[in-house]
Amino acid sequence: MVTKLPSSGAMPEGQEAGCDTSGLILVHRIFRWLYSELPQLIREVKPADTGRAAIVGRYANLDFFALHMHHETEDLALWDRLASRDPGCALHVEQMRAEHAEVASHLARIEPQLPPWVASADTERGETLARDIDALRDTLTAHLGHEESAIMPVAGAVLSQQEWDWMEQHTRAELSAHRKELGRDIMALQAGLLIASVPPDERQEWMRANIPMPIRVLYQLLLKRQYDRAMRDLYPDRPVPAMV
Ligand SMILES: [Fe+2]
Repeated sequence: MVTKLPSSGAMPEGQEAGCDTSGLILVHRIFRWLYSELPQLIREVKPADTGRAAIVGRYANLDFFALHMHHETEDLALWDRLASRDPGCALHVEQMRAEHAEVASHLARIEPQLPPWVASADTERGETLARDIDALRDTLTAHLGHEESAIMPVAGAVLSQQEWDWMEQHTRAELSAHRKELGRDIMALQAGLLIASVPPDERQEWMRANIPMPIRVLYQLLLKRQYDRAMRDLYPDRPVPAMV
């Protein structure tokens, strides 16, 4: 499925300014969790254990794909529109563009290191990779905080709900379009991580309010099992660390 690219500038006819941006907080929780877990998972791989490195490497690849995609989606949906509708936030928008470029340059340094580490499970290569991901995590964590404080309030005021929701639709369409390379359980992973980002005591209510009934049933029947299996692969010897 291909989603139409958003237009920038004027509000589309029939839509009005004002949207609920709170879903981004959940997405940011997922990224904070993924990128603080990943260096540790890499460091835990025993020397020459290429079987284990392949499992961790698959998730590293998914984490990199997800971060590229998340930032490209924001680049398409947010910056031009926010700067044109609220010129007062142009400086913040420039800062976000610069931070996205910084994250991209970390990824460009990290990604080529993954295949040789997966192929060898060499401890020294693993430590260099983990250290570079630590540095990316620090840059990313600061960026996510800036987006929450400087961008979300403006986006909530000047974008329509349809414009905001486009980002989630685009994300799902992209994951689905790449599921051959990402793995058949990619939609289960996306759903499972999103649910894990909601505090346990709010989860049932959040699912009722945010996930359509047929998808909730599909999750209970199939996707949850796929997600649980993936997490068991990733954490065979210890409980899955809580996200919230
Ligand atoms: Fe961002």
